[in-house]
Amino acid sequence: MKAALVTDLEKVSIQEIDRPIIKDDEVLIKAKTVGVCGSDLHLFRGTHAFRKPPAILGHEIAGDVVEIGKNVKTVKVGDRVTVEPQYGCGECEYCQQGLVNLCANKVVPGTAKWIGVFVEYFNAPERTIHKLNDSVSYQMGTMIEPLAVAVRALRRATVKEKDCLVILGAGTIGLLTLVVAKQMGYKKIVCTDTAEFNREMAIKNGATLAINPIDTDIVDVVKKLTDGKGADLALIAAGANNIVDQATACVKKRGEIGIIAMITEKIPFYSYQIVINELTMYGAMTYETKDFKEAADMINAGLDLSSFITQTMDIEHTQKGLDVLSQKKEHVVKVMIEF
Ligand SMILES: NC(=O)c1ccc[n+]([C@@H]2O[C@H](COP(=O)([O-])OP(=O)(O)OC[C@H]3O[C@@H](n4cnc5c(N)ncnc54)[C@H](O)[C@@H]3O)[C@@H](O)[C@H]2O)c1
Ligand SMILES: [Zn+2]
Ligand SMILES: [Zn+2]
Repeated sequence: MKAALVTDLEKVSIQEIDRPIIKDDEVLIKAKTVGVCGSDLHLFRGTHAFRKPPAILGHEIAGDVVEIGKNVKTVKVGDRVTVEPQYGCGECEYCQQGLVNLCANKVVPGTAKWIGVFVEYFNAPERTIHKLNDSVSYQMGTMIEPLAVAVRALRRATVKEKDCLVILGAGTIGLLTLVVAKQMGYKKIVCTDTAEFNREMAIKNGATLAINPIDTDIVDVVKKLTDGKGADLALIAAGANNIVDQATACVKKRGEIGIIAMITEKIPFYSYQIVINELTMYGAMTYETKDFKEAADMINAGLDLSSFITQTMDIEHTQKGLDVLSQKKEHVVKVMIEF
């Protein structure tokens, strides 16, 4: 089968490799659509904390089940599915609480234990499978994974009031967070992005305001919008040196800051702000299965995110897909690879 391998920094090669052989508790999926994710760029660009090429990237997939292992009970050949791309050891204190995302021994695609999804056929354990309704396109099925990240980032907040939310960075994750936040009832949502196209996308998808943090003072804007109080919650979905300070300055007393962005270098921040205003800061790492299911339910209920798909290409053009997302020379939110 065809596979797209990152063989060196920013270099993809299409190679023929063997199809995965499924275990008794696994299914084999013929990929229909796979998504290129901002987090794939870390290995591609060489900024990943520990992973290095060569690797098969990708963890967002929708396709058809073509084979099932002999112990598989809930999935059958022909099912249209997506995959929650992680599973834990099942035994540690985190797995016991459903926190698979925090299991020290969790297995994720694109590693020695599990192939990445930029391949024609992908194996996955039965427990990671989520079914797609017949009315759901494979592209929307592939969007469930990043949508689950947005669901979790918002579910981690404990704010009671939902008057104002600030989303710093309106790439795929920031925009999906905007969509979920609207559904959750946040009244005013301010997005920031340095790219004009992303600010436009934010407005089209219901942001109250979308500002460029380079030329506009985000704190000023948020204070004006909230009668001087500040936002209830700020979510960080982009990396920049001053981004934590922007978030802490935007929120009101007892406000919360959630960090979704994987910022792998050290950045400074002013802790005094957190103390005097009794702010709470949390991280949001992927999702638990219940978040993934909630995202799958939203898509199965008809949530349409097709306007976020800005480029579609075949697997031969995986290099281009990663370059487009990495270089941002063209308008881009989500790049899809179709088989
Ligand atoms: N925590 C998790 O589980 C998880 C999951 C997926 C992605 N991520 C991380 O979330 C981040 C966003 O992912 P994405 O897929 O949306 O990436 P993306 O590249 O699509 O989006 C990032 C956006 O930030 C904008 N930006 C750059 N500098 C900015 C600044 N100073 N202020 C505001 N916006 C700025 C860019 O123009 C871009 O639109 C990445 O760091 C990614 O690794 C985390
Ligand atoms: Zn992803
Ligand atoms: Zn575990």
